[in-house]
Amino acid sequence: MAPILRIEHLVKVYPTGTRALDDVSLDVERGEFVVLIGLSGSGKSTLLRCINRLVEPTSGRILLDGTDMARARGSELRRMRRRIGMIFQQFNLVRRSSVFANVLAGRLGSRPLWRTVAMRPTTEDVALAFENLGRVGIVGKAYSRADALSGGQQQRVGIARALMQRPDLMLADEPVASLDPATSHSVMKYLEEINRKDGITVLCSLHFLSLARRYGTRVIALKDGRVAFDGKPVDIDEVRFKEIYGEDAVEVEIGVGPTADERAAAESADATAAAMRAHLETLDTH
Ligand SMILES: Nc1ncnc2c1ncn2[C@@H]1O[C@H](COP(=O)(O)OP(=O)(O)OP(=O)(O)O)[C@@H](O)[C@H]1O
Ligand SMILES: [Mg+2]
Repeated sequence: MAPILRIEHLVKVYPTGTRALDDVSLDVERGEFVVLIGLSGSGKSTLLRCINRLVEPTSGRILLDGTDMARARGSELRRMRRRIGMIFQQFNLVRRSSVFANVLAGRLGSRPLWRTVAMRPTTEDVALAFENLGRVGIVGKAYSRADALSGGQQQRVGIARALMQRPDLMLADEPVASLDPATSHSVMKYLEEINRKDGITVLCSLHFLSLARRYGTRVIALKDGRVAFDGKPVDIDEVRFKEIYGEDAVEVEIGVGPTADERAAAESADATAAAMRAHLETLDTH
């Protein structure tokens, strides 16, 4: 089968003259969990942002199922973007809005304008929002303000919001860089689950190689805007490691353990159906 994503000779030169991507070519197969690593400034964010055109590539092709994302315009670009979910390091939630409203907002891109303006979600959207909140174990927080949640919970809202598009490809730019080690694992496990259970292809940048080894089916390392390694996590030995990170670099471990978040997730799964019923009842009475 054709790769879901094919990147050919991608170059990004910022107006400052920085060559952030320097002839990057790679294929991502459907169902892969690709982890992007590399030193700060190596071009990870630029690559992820070029893929959904938050950053305009200078040259090269970005084929999403064979169609060039780099050349798409207008409605075609919007349609293609909808197939790509994105998760950010700083979560990018509307802090003063409810968790529920934040998640629903992930669906707005696929609604006609009048529905967006009227802010009347369809019953299907509401059901999907609760389903996705349930997926990440925070349905009990649906009516909390986003900024009242812990960092790990906020990132799970970010995942639920991205899932509202029913994406084929999920991009995540350092999704756990603002979290402590235990919470990092709990968030990564949700990404792993949507990859394995839903078959969503994941392309995720990470700072820690230990996380890359644990979650990636494949690791791509960037160095000065070029691909410095592309292969299996186990093939990154000490020599490779120093090629990617430099002679003085030392690998550090991030511990794994059960977290409070995970325990809460198990409990709140049961609450999903109840909360959804309650919400649908309130809609009926208006
Ligand atoms: N908007 C911009 N304008 C000019 N130069 C930029 C811009 N964004 C990034 N760069 C430069 O492009 C290069 C790649 O940056 P990028 O943010 O993609 O790296 P990164 O691998 O994501 O780094 P980090 O690990 O710190 O997030 C760096 O030299 C950076 O300074
Ligand atoms: Mg970055």
